[in-house]
Amino acid sequence: MALSVFLSSSSSKRKHILKFLDAEKDISVLKGTLKPGDIIHYVFDRDSTMNVSQNLYALLPRTSPLKGKHYRTCAIVGNSGILLNSGCGKEIDAHSFVIRCNLAPVQEYIHDVGMKTDLVTMNPSVIQRAFEDLVNDTWREKLLQRLHSLNGSILWIPAFMAKGGKERVEWVNELILKHHINVRTAYPSLRLLHAVRGYWLTNKVYIKRPTTGLLMYTLATRFCNQIYLYGFWPFPQGPDQSPVKYHYYDSLKYGYMSQTSPHTMPLEFKALKLLHLQGALKLTVGPCN
Ligand code: CDP
Repeated sequence: MALSVFLSSSSSKRKHILKFLDAEKDISVLKGTLKPGDIIHYVFDRDSTMNVSQNLYALLPRTSPLKGKHYRTCAIVGNSGILLNSGCGKEIDAHSFVIRCNLAPVQEYIHDVGMKTDLVTMNPSVIQRAFEDLVNDTWREKLLQRLHSLNGSILWIPAFMAKGGKERVEWVNELILKHHINVRTAYPSLRLLHAVRGYWLTNKVYIKRPTTGLLMYTLATRFCNQIYLYGFWPFPQGPDQSPVKYHYYDSLKYGYMSQTSPHTMPLEFKALKLLHLQGALKLTVGPCN
């Protein structure tokens, strides 16, 4: 696809998203707007609340980690098994800004997923799923190593989204402070969800609970000229009908297919594919050259 088409089409889509989203503001709550002890209602569970702890307050950014930032090309790396044997690592690492999801491991998969990480998300449930709720020193050490490897990146923790993750967020906050881990923490507010939902609703895509990948894509439209998606493939069979793991790095199953799952990944995928066909983003679902 000619680059000019890619860019012009992207910028008209961008203008539309601009009305809803302000990446600088929406990426995180800032220190000035909260104080320790403040009560926050969870975004998805409005009847449940949490208190802003001293540690959480200490880690709120004073200024937005995206302040004044703009990048030529961004990669958003989803966690689908479609990445395995893709050889996309080098291509991903060549982008100016690389976003990854849920502290997904990179070290053992460098050839396929690369390692450059400018922003990585962490749903609180990851601490349970990938780090055994830090039951012993081995798991604690494993998480510590992963956090140390982030080396100055933005660690984006949706702490205010759903109830049930409070302790996990607190454990991570405590580790970061105690071990002086070099990350720039960000904690998104309700504004982001409203903005993302609003944007997709006006495009007639009814998203109850956007996935991390869709949140990142929508946010990235505000600070990236060109957006490339890798690892987005919410189907158990690949384009060539071969089996595809749900995640490239673990044995999680395709749970989102169930009626109770809040995510609607195939619907999101359809919307992203349409944007790909219109030239507003580039979706890679096969091997990289
Ligand atoms: O936090 P969440 O459960 O949404 O994400 P994840 O399973 O850690 O994967 C990160 C992102 O990759 C998802 O939010 C999806 O956007 C995308 N993904 C996909 O498109 N297909 C898959 N099989 C798995 C993830």
